[in-house]
Amino acid sequence: MRLHTIAMVWLVLGTFGCGGKTDSSGSASGSATAAVSSGSSTPALTTLPADLDQGPRAAESVIDEAKAEAGETLFQTKGCSACHAFGKRVSCPDLDGVTTRRTAKWIQSQILHPDLMVKQDPTARQLFAQYSLQMPNQNLTVDEAAQVIEFLKHKNHESAEHK
Ligand code: HEC
Repeated sequence: MRLHTIAMVWLVLGTFGCGGKTDSSGSASGSATAAVSSGSSTPALTTLPADLDQGPRAAESVIDEAKAEAGETLFQTKGCSACHAFGKRVSCPDLDGVTTRRTAKWIQSQILHPDLMVKQDPTARQLFAQYSLQMPNQNLTVDEAAQVIEFLKHKNHESAEHK
């Protein structure tokens, strides 16, 4: 009879524990989850900063031509040119003048986290609605994204001069 009662109490506590309703078991399961996710190789970003499109536009900073050249190659080899062009709309947004419309941080985030952008950024969501297509993650590194941004600045500057 006594054992039975203990078993019942154990069960009830256990049930609450799973629901995370008690402090001690809640934090215990929390740290277990954290330990598992910190073991994975790519730390997944889940929330984008809210101020991505605040500040000077990308085109307002000086162009690093060496990086732009590397960026041009990446633009071809990383698949960007399959969807994007300058001065004409293929199936995706025209990138002519994109660096005068957006900040470097915003463009970087669109290149590195297009999936999150479409969910969390109002501008990206609007583009998604317009093109009915989700830009895929082309797995660029932060450095590669920076080079592509220099290339976009270079292209935008070039075309502005010819207008
Ligand atoms: C499968 C086609 C596709 C590929 C490949 C692709 N994009 Fe996109 N891109 C899109 C679409 C569609 C959007 C609009 C946002 C959305 O719907 O996800 C977009 C949005 C953008 C924007 C924002 C445009 C604006 O007007 O603000 C930039 C910048 C951009 N892409 C750069 C790149 C770069 C750099 C690469 C290569 C690393 C790339 N994209 C690869 C389809 C693509």
